[in-house]
Amino acid sequence: MARLTWHGHSTFTLETDSGHRVMFDPFLDENPKSDIQVADVQELDFILVSHGHFDHFQDAIPLAKKTGATLISTFEIVGFCQENGLENVHPLHIGGGNHFAFGYAKMTPALHGGQVDGDEEGAFTTVPGGWWLDMPGKTLYHAGDTALLMEMQLLKGKVDVALLPIGDNFTMGPEDAARAVEFIEPRVVIPMHYSTWEPIEQDPNEFRDRVAGLAEVVILDPGDSYNF
Ligand code: NI
Ligand code: MN
Repeated sequence: MARLTWHGHSTFTLETDSGHRVMFDPFLDENPKSDIQVADVQELDFILVSHGHFDHFQDAIPLAKKTGATLISTFEIVGFCQENGLENVHPLHIGGGNHFAFGYAKMTPALHGGQVDGDEEGAFTTVPGGWWLDMPGKTLYHAGDTALLMEMQLLKGKVDVALLPIGDNFTMGPEDAARAVEFIEPRVVIPMHYSTWEPIEQDPNEFRDRVAGLAEVVILDPGDSYNF
């Protein structure tokens, strides 16, 4: 049984069947909805960063340094991390994946901004992505920050649990996220990237109503876990 815990926004900890701890898009200390802080995280094996915006990346380097976790992201973000003293890294790019100890992780396309938080010169600006994880007996899709994409149709039938942004304003809103569910046909969908701040305030029940019949919608509170 894998355990997926939401920390608000797009930050999740995945404890895999193989016993590895994988964190997506660490944003804890300045995340008003997070249930934990960087100081609370003791063990982490991998950190997956979808893109460089502060609300997905801000705590990634401190957590990687603290825990020794391997940071996986685009070539440019990994380069920025190396410039900032991180050694345990693995670069990927959109459409490419690699087998890691917890399973296969592939970067999926996302349509969004590519600026990297802390990169004053813009030298590491990159293409944002998402994640498709293929682990023994189960698959997971973390969409990152993105608009609705036709490319999501390529994931049809390949996703057990989909983590989709519903906040609108900077990403898909509930209507387009429900469209994404039509494209992907996941078994379960968990909404993310909403109600962290006023501009992305959403009622996840409205999203649940839109998705009705297409997939099971699991609405988490920060600190809640979903087992699959
Ligand atoms: Ni973003
Ligand atoms: Mn974001």
